[in-house]
Amino acid sequence: MRLTVIGTGYLGAVHAAAMAKLGHEVVGIDVDTAKVAKLNAGEEPFHEPGFPEVLREQLATGRLRFSTDFADAADADVHFVAVGTPQRKTDGRADLTYVDAAFMALTPYLKPGALVVGKSTVPVGTAARLAEVVAARWPLVATHAGGGEAPRVAWNPEFLREGFAVKDTLEPDRLVYGVADLEPADASSPSSRSASEILDEVYAQILQRDTPRIVTDLATAELVKVSANAFLATKISFINAMAEIAEATGADVTTLADAIGFDSRIGRKFLNAGAGFGGGCLPKDIRAFTARAEELGRGDSVAFLKEVDAINLRRRERVVQLALESCGGTVYQHHVAVLGLAFKPDSDDVRDSPALDVAVRLNGLGGHVCATDPQAIETARRLHPQLDYAPTLAAAVAEAEVVILVTEWAEYKALTPESLAALTPARTIIDARNVLDAAAWRGAGWTYRGLGRP
Ligand code: UGA
Repeated sequence: MRLTVIGTGYLGAVHAAAMAKLGHEVVGIDVDTAKVAKLNAGEEPFHEPGFPEVLREQLATGRLRFSTDFADAADADVHFVAVGTPQRKTDGRADLTYVDAAFMALTPYLKPGALVVGKSTVPVGTAARLAEVVAARWPLVATHAGGGEAPRVAWNPEFLREGFAVKDTLEPDRLVYGVADLEPADASSPSSRSASEILDEVYAQILQRDTPRIVTDLATAELVKVSANAFLATKISFINAMAEIAEATGADVTTLADAIGFDSRIGRKFLNAGAGFGGGCLPKDIRAFTARAEELGRGDSVAFLKEVDAINLRRRERVVQLALESCGGTVYQHHVAVLGLAFKPDSDDVRDSPALDVAVRLNGLGGHVCATDPQAIETARRLHPQLDYAPTLAAAVAEAEVVILVTEWAEYKALTPESLAALTPARTIIDARNVLDAAAWRGAGWTYRGLGRP
């Protein structure tokens, strides 16, 4: 099939390459000239394991290319819209500027019967509004396109995790289609295919593996996405709330998580207490969901998400507090090493990153903060040029009095009291992801502080 993917960020670039891998002819479209040039040259604009390989492989087949020109979308049967919906600065709502612009730019090039499939995370109600926009503009476009069946809009949310984006796109745990034609309205043209039939053809290879597929209305599909992220955020904040109670009682939240996690109704995944969640999705999605629910007069229904957000932000403060305590009450002119800047390992994404936030706060308190990360130094530097960045772990800890592990990269998790002691004068470690063996570090003479651990 001929497909376009509008927006070539984490979601769109990976989706475009993955769709080419499924055998489709794909044009990725973005307004960012530099990014498009990079992608066409086979260079990944962000760090994502496995993506460079699939990008280069698919460019070489000739089935994948990138363009800044929406006219290149004109031939396609299906258009995926995968642009960002960041948080608005003025309030917590989702900024739909890019989604709206993508639909407006695309509409003149739609051919009869085309399907526009939203993948971006949007407030519930957006898809129905955009379907009306496309329908309203079609008579104008149809004059040039020679008439025919009006294009339709569907919503197909994405559940990929950064760090696993390629695998999650090619082997999703479920496919969700939000469609307007659950009941075919146009019985007079029974030959035309429904939106879900078209999506089934796009995802044929994935469906062959018995991947669960849910076909529903537009509003439900939009809500599936935000409620999934709200649930994950809630689960993390739940265990972080238990960490706060553990801190007041001398209990150990990691043992608690293991113990409750054995209950299969609860499950151990996403019960890792620590510095909390960050990234371009969970924080902004719970805020946008809260704002949307308030607009709908249902603010009370998700009022708990404000608490989820507050617990999450308190955990960063707790890391800062532990650093202060470790330096005798103030970090002013004390040397602190921060291991990790990305919001999670295997990513160079620092959007709303707890690690970067901790480094910035300690720096603001007058500490000599030296931060490092295997991939995210450049993205962090763009946002916070005032911080001191070290290219390696060894350089970051060389003068440290306290070492803080805030992003659990494999190389930081693999640290031992002996290996780290050989690189630094510090003998205090703050394990803000609870990934180190507390007993081993204490046994080797270190002061070990975890979150929610005695
Ligand atoms: C999240 C969702 O997991 C994806 O399903 C969704 O598609 C994506 O958002 C999105 O909306 O695009 P992602 O932001 O890549 O994916 O990262 P997660 O793996 O969910 O982690 C989010 C944050 O939670 C990270 O900062 C991580 O360190 C933190 N976390 C995760 C915890 O603090 N504790 C845990 O137990 C798990």
